[in-house]
Amino acid sequence: MLTLDLPGFPKLRSGKVREVFELPGDPDHLLFVATDRLSAFDVVMRDPIPDKGRVLTRLSAWWFERLRTEGVENHFVTVDVVTRFPALEPFAKELAGRAMIVERTEPLPVECVARGWLAGGGWKDYQETGFVSGVELPAGLRLAQKLREPIFTPARKAEQGHDENISFELAAETIGRPEISLMRDATLAVYGRAADLAAERGILIADTKFEFGRRADGKLILIDEVLTPDSSRFWPMDQHQVGSSPPSFDKQFVRDWLETQDWDKTPPAPPLPADVIDGTRARYVEAYERLTGLKFAAH
Ligand SMILES: Nc1ncnc2c1ncn2[C@@H]1O[C@H](COP(=O)(O)OP(=O)(O)O)[C@@H](O)[C@H]1O
Ligand SMILES: [Mg+2]
Repeated sequence: MLTLDLPGFPKLRSGKVREVFELPGDPDHLLFVATDRLSAFDVVMRDPIPDKGRVLTRLSAWWFERLRTEGVENHFVTVDVVTRFPALEPFAKELAGRAMIVERTEPLPVECVARGWLAGGGWKDYQETGFVSGVELPAGLRLAQKLREPIFTPARKAEQGHDENISFELAAETIGRPEISLMRDATLAVYGRAADLAAERGILIADTKFEFGRRADGKLILIDEVLTPDSSRFWPMDQHQVGSSPPSFDKQFVRDWLETQDWDKTPPAPPLPADVIDGTRARYVEAYERLTGLKFAAH
């Protein structure tokens, strides 16, 4: 599924991956639907990755339920959306497995990244400046090296294009010091707990991104998706080697294929061959199954 409209349910936002709907008569909640869209280099591909939205929704829901105990509240209410909101019944089939009802918040425009290992944009910034989001790191670190302790590296959420790493100080000026302090502490606490859980399953969470929103009562809570292959870099522990980029469960596979194409990274993206689509789907499903220990059933 690439796009979704639900007659009678106003669409609040269509993001790169999710469609967000209002629930008539219930201003405190939203319907959050993950499509099978995949974005790479900030361009949405034209081909769906079958079941990707279901994997994202199930994995986020699994984490949200487990992470509540960390003292950080989150927006998750239920994946049983038709029971909770019976007017959704006519759309039960399209929504099955890919939708959740969440608390409505006002999202804060800072993405909260935790990094335990050096990779991706963090590695790039470090090589150029020795810093990541204003955090100075020791000299001589190598790609995929474990950091002495996890670091918090905020980024400014861009409406369009690439998010930009910013320092803690700039984030404090943008959204407030008490807010960003709380978000940093929550980010590192949740990341630490999730990294321990994943390690038990043989997976390293090199880095991950969280978003926070302000609830009507003023409280900041964890929102969006959490700890999925779209928002995180997952590595199989047994294939991790300092100095090289481990195979990962995210869209690196698609990115690698795109890099072989004569494409300038502006829309439209080239059509994805069937084996790239299948290989990507398999990696998302594998991430879900390894982390949760559950079998992924499409329906
Ligand atoms: N509880 C919430 N209340 C309001 N907005 C939310 C909530 N959770 C997530 N969002 C927003 O919904 C959107 C999710 O769709 P997504 O496809 O991830 O968009 P994006 O392209 O911005 O990443 C994001 O913009 C996110 O900030
Ligand atoms: Mg998003």
